[in-house]
Amino acid sequence: MSGTPMQKEYWSGPAAEQWATHADRIDAMMRPMTDDVLRLAHVQPGERVLDIGCGSGATSLRLARAVAPGGAVTGVDISPQLLDVARARVAQTDLPVSFLEADAGAALLDQTFDTAFSRFGVMFFEQPSAAFTNIRRHMRRGARMTFVCWRPIAENGWAMAPLEAIKPMFDTPWTPPNTDAPGPFAFCGAYSGASRLEQDRDRALGWRQCHRRGRELGREHGFFAPHRPKRASDRGAGA
Ligand SMILES: C[S@@+](CC[C@H](N)C(=O)[O-])C[C@H]1O[C@@H](n2cnc3c(N)ncnc32)[C@H](O)[C@@H]1O
Repeated sequence: MSGTPMQKEYWSGPAAEQWATHADRIDAMMRPMTDDVLRLAHVQPGERVLDIGCGSGATSLRLARAVAPGGAVTGVDISPQLLDVARARVAQTDLPVSFLEADAGAALLDQTFDTAFSRFGVMFFEQPSAAFTNIRRHMRRGARMTFVCWRPIAENGWAMAPLEAIKPMFDTPWTPPNTDAPGPFAFCGAYSGASRLEQDRDRALGWRQCHRRGRELGREHGFFAPHRPKRASDRGAGA
């Protein structure tokens, strides 16, 4: 089963409180990526969309606007705190969105979808193959899935700049995140995002025609620009 208690625990604790408190700021920061991935998802009026790991619901709301009239969005997440934010946001609208607190990788949903979507949610699956297989089961024939996930941390200025700034304060060397474990960089290596789905084809995931578009999206917004640590002599120079 994916979404083990570890992830459930993580997304029900202080980390979730932080995400919930800063939801508006996080959404503003993610806006360029969101615009791009939504454009790629190309959802249409009337479609039923599954928002995987919907968190505080920003993408569910945008998807719901795109599928009107006649469509609907189901946001699934394991975090009660983030779903509280999502529900409060939706309550201020008349958009066709419902939320479910569940592990998207294992949940049995009572409908099929035209599109699955995720903004930085799918990398947290404990067992990605089982999870993608389960999601596929809930899609109609010919359905699409579009998600955005991070490239390697070394190429990621958003993550590396603050890390570089605090590194001198620590005695022990910094170790990069384990990309074999659930987490923001789980899909960044050779066995990444779309290639994960392609390689798992034989294991009956059922997904076909996988495309990776990450580099193009990220470069445009500076998220994936190769990160070159500044030399000590450069520090404090501004820029
Ligand atoms: C980095 S946050 C992104 C949240 C949201 N998509 C956004 O962009 O604001 C990852 C989200 O995935 C959710 N998540 C992690 N594992 C999950 C699972 N197995 N099923 C559903 N949601 C999950 C977490 O609770 C969290 O809300």
